[in-house]
Amino acid sequence: MARVICVTSGKGGVGKTTITANLGTALACLGQKVCVIDADYGLRNLDIPLGLSSRLNYDISDFMAGRCGLHQVIIPDKRLSNLSFVSCTASADHHEDPGLFRDVVHYIAHNYDYVLIDSPAGIESGFRNASYAADEAIIVTTPNRTALQDADRVIGLLGDLIDSPPQLIVNMSDDPAERDLNLEDIVNILNIGLIGVIRMDVDIIRSVARGIPIALDPEQESGRRFRQIAQNLITNEQERIFSEKPQKKRKHLFSFTKGLWWGQSNSV
Ligand SMILES: Nc1ncnc2c1ncn2[C@@H]1O[C@H](COP(=O)(O)OP(=O)(O)O)[C@@H](O)[C@H]1O
Ligand SMILES: [Mg+2]
Repeated sequence: MARVICVTSGKGGVGKTTITANLGTALACLGQKVCVIDADYGLRNLDIPLGLSSRLNYDISDFMAGRCGLHQVIIPDKRLSNLSFVSCTASADHHEDPGLFRDVVHYIAHNYDYVLIDSPAGIESGFRNASYAADEAIIVTTPNRTALQDADRVIGLLGDLIDSPPQLIVNMSDDPAERDLNLEDIVNILNIGLIGVIRMDVDIIRSVARGIPIALDPEQESGRRFRQIAQNLITNEQERIFSEKPQKKRKHLFSFTKGLWWGQSNSV
């Protein structure tokens, strides 16, 4: 039975879909059997970073309505035999029964090590649907105050939906347009375990456009980072925030303080 993990945030545009696609790919690259599920009803787009848009014939709602078999909904990735993808409907006015969605997700989960659910933005029915189906949650935030406030709200709501404590990924960590807070502040405010940090990276944008997850390429820095997050997830380890380099002299306190900001410590 898989670990069923929803990737959620509250705020849109922080990178949930990009992270679901790449974390799923990275887990598969590390030998795990993975299924990634798009639960963003109406605005589904997980097929794009995975490069699987042309192969969408049926979605999970078709299966629930008896219009197709499960084997027609689960799309195997051609690059990684242990990675599969399930889409949801693009119909905007469709509301899934959370209990039924959860049952189907758990049925699928029997054949995998990891099921990652890409949650929609917001805290309405779509968010609850995705969270209700999951046993664990990954919160994605950028270092932006609005994103952080939404993440904090989501963490509060998840307390009623998921027993295990959520884990944190900070995305676009060094984006000057997003960077209101440093990493230490974010971890202290949200008070959950950090499993990874992804930088603003034009190669990620290019990889999404090409439909080739950057996690496939360990030569790319972001590819390595996604694999490190996957490794942290597998081994239940957290990401270090600070450089462990010893500080030589007290007079370097200022530069040490600077090192708490992104882009200046080893881990971010
Ligand atoms: N680390 C990153 N560096 C650069 N662009 C990113 C990064 N993460 C996500 N993006 C881009 O940001 C946009 C929103 O990402 P997306 O994953 O769709 O967010 P969400 O699913 O939270 O709405 C996409 O165009 C994506 O390519
Ligand atoms: Mg999304």
